[in-house]
Amino acid sequence: MSAPVRAQSGVFSSTRAKISVRTLRTDRWWVPPLLTVVGLLAFIAYATTRAFWDAAFFVPEYHYLTPFYSPCVTQGCGDAADFGMLPFELPPFIPKGFLVLPFLLGFRLTCYYYRKAYYRAFWASPPACAVAEPHAKYSGETRFPLIIQNSHRYFFYFATIVSLINTYDAINAFHGKDGGFGIGLGSLVLLGNVIMLWAYTLSCHSCRHITGGRLKHFSKHPVRYRIWTFVSKLNTRHMLLAWITLGTLTLTDFYVMLVASNTISDLRIFN
Ligand code: FES
Repeated sequence: MSAPVRAQSGVFSSTRAKISVRTLRTDRWWVPPLLTVVGLLAFIAYATTRAFWDAAFFVPEYHYLTPFYSPCVTQGCGDAADFGMLPFELPPFIPKGFLVLPFLLGFRLTCYYYRKAYYRAFWASPPACAVAEPHAKYSGETRFPLIIQNSHRYFFYFATIVSLINTYDAINAFHGKDGGFGIGLGSLVLLGNVIMLWAYTLSCHSCRHITGGRLKHFSKHPVRYRIWTFVSKLNTRHMLLAWITLGTLTLTDFYVMLVASNTISDLRIFN
């Protein structure tokens, strides 16, 4: 006996083949969404803890500043306040990275890849290819609140500014014990992180459209064509870069936290 059809839309609509089971897939299709849930929740838990920790975010000796607190502009930033300080004190429950956190969160949340990931993993909409979703209706991103996803391009502009600030931090991290130039493991960690952040930011679908969209003839725009080709190559790795950058952000913050809290010493290579 077949199970009752649960909804009259999507794969259960009248024009679709009458398949009463949710999926005919026999593989472990639920593994990727499960891993996504675990990965994203782990990152959110770590990043939230660190954002509100309010300590061990800067190593003054080597100018290592964690990306979670950059740019640091509040009263307690000390030597990390390279971009100036607010003239008033903020309540302690506001994280030092408050200037960038909403934009970084907005950029990631509206990212085309992350949308796919959390729509599947958290809302089961749909949970995987060829697995019917449990929802009765689907209106896409045409109405509130999901229509906000269309603001992704604007978050891309802000993310570019943040990447520039992180680049400044990474260059600044080549600072020696006795002043001047120096290299430590932390300098390399911050540099590696910012390279991956640029790769992720430039591989953005909006960036691809900004560089090559709305053109009728690539032949008349050779420079844009070359940039678009480069961005398109990165774009094919966007999912990978999305995960790598969650890893490098966490690793960078963790390393700075360990050195800043004197749990470990920075491994110095030069000065
Ligand atoms: S599509 Fe992922 S960052 Fe733009």
